[in-house]
Amino acid sequence: MVEFYHVYKQYIKGDWALQDINLSVAKGEFVFLTGASGAGKTTLLKLIFKDETPSKGQILVDSANINLIPAKHVYRLRRKIGIIFQDFKLIESLTVYENVALPLVVRGERSSVVSRMVQSALSLVGLTHRKNYPPSHISGGEQQRVAIARAIVGNPKIIVADEPTGNLDTELSIEVFKIFERINANGITIILATHDQHLLQLFPRRVLRLDKGRLVSGWDKETRP
Ligand SMILES: Nc1ncnc2c1ncn2[C@@H]1O[C@H](COP(=O)(O)OP(=O)(O)OP(=O)(O)O)[C@@H](O)[C@H]1O
Ligand SMILES: [Mg+2]
Repeated sequence: MVEFYHVYKQYIKGDWALQDINLSVAKGEFVFLTGASGAGKTTLLKLIFKDETPSKGQILVDSANINLIPAKHVYRLRRKIGIIFQDFKLIESLTVYENVALPLVVRGERSSVVSRMVQSALSLVGLTHRKNYPPSHISGGEQQRVAIARAIVGNPKIIVADEPTGNLDTELSIEVFKIFERINANGITIILATHDQHLLQLFPRRVLRLDKGRLVSGWDKETRP
């Protein structure tokens, strides 16, 4: 579902944020991405949804070479990907329901379709009872669950989450990880960046580990150097 072939990223001349990254994440897989601050986790995730472009190398998403996607068609790639950040990026002037509905409204879905899909996403994250609240009136854990509902509402094939529990305590983090497991059980591929080693131990899965821009463990058999 996501493949990297000899991918390099350089923001500043002579300083590689990523070097020779080779990886393959299969359809339906749930993998973690870890590494110290500055190791390149966010950069790697941004390359997947074309928020950044590689300096060298090829990236395939859903079997398509995304280097070849023209700017005007990047929205088609983004429709396949639900993106979740550490700071939830909710819109304060909208209710929980309206925040989750936004991606569907933007793409022009009919209101009956929007209603059905938003109810289903809110129910999956257990927030139906909060749908008319503004984000400031719900807890941090609930706000992150709204962000997750917004990421899955359009039926993406892939979820990319960058430190989604970075602002949450351990108990809420575990709750959020369990929601990701539920989403993954529906067949959605998940790539989740975290530097929280405790959570990695609690949820044993394949871990892609970056060290100073290089992948140092977690390859599958096809991409093992
Ligand atoms: N827009 C940018 N311009 C220049 N350098 C950047 C930019 N974004 C990231 N970098 C550099 O690229 C390297 C990797 O950064 P990145 O944000 O991907 O790391 P990270 O693993 O996500 O770190 P953290 O755990 O702190 O979020 C770092 O050296 C960083 O300073
Ligand atoms: Mg980061």
